[in-house]
Amino acid sequence: MVQISGKNILFDPFISPNPKASVVDISTIQPDIILISHGHGDHIADAVEIASQSKAQVISVYEVVEWLKAKGIENSIPMNTGGSINLGFCKIKLVNAAHSSSLPDGSYGGNPVGFVIESNESNFYYAGDTALTLDMKLIGEEHLLDFCFLPIGDHFTMNAIDAAKACKFVNCKTAIGMHFDTFPPIEINHMDAHQHFKVLKLELILPKINHTIEL
Ligand code: NI
Repeated sequence: MVQISGKNILFDPFISPNPKASVVDISTIQPDIILISHGHGDHIADAVEIASQSKAQVISVYEVVEWLKAKGIENSIPMNTGGSINLGFCKIKLVNAAHSSSLPDGSYGGNPVGFVIESNESNFYYAGDTALTLDMKLIGEEHLLDFCFLPIGDHFTMNAIDAAKACKFVNCKTAIGMHFDTFPPIEINHMDAHQHFKVLKLELILPKINHTIEL
């Protein structure tokens, strides 16, 4: 969850099925907006429960929003890749992600996406699950980013070497790593990951579960 301009934006909630996140009580999570990058279970597991309890508005691609609607989530905005929306406190753009997307029951999830968030306080990119792509250079050309969230776990997404390159492509100095250590195939060596960013004069932040960082 990211707090900007006094609002909480929650991304891809995967908490209750994650044994590493057992310390987190999801009833305490009260976002204003929930952004879902794609339909995979490790990104949407707690979306229905948190959206219900918080009445937060859910923004995702059309197919994911339709799936959530069928589960009773009405406060939502369906969008698709390339589209932007101005919510007043921030502007959100859906950008390409090179991945796949199906929902936990196997239904079609549409295109996976990343998000660029711009506000008076800061601008950032949340990549979702993705490989390294040259499209990321366009994000760096079009937006002045303060920080970015990049997957670094390898196997299902890019690894830290490619993520450091992605950080360069989006023209950003600070990355927060995600999609690592949750399952054995995506366990990583933290020292190596930091080193891949350091050689390019970039900073990698690896947040711990339930920790808050100030940027
Ligand atoms: Ni995925």
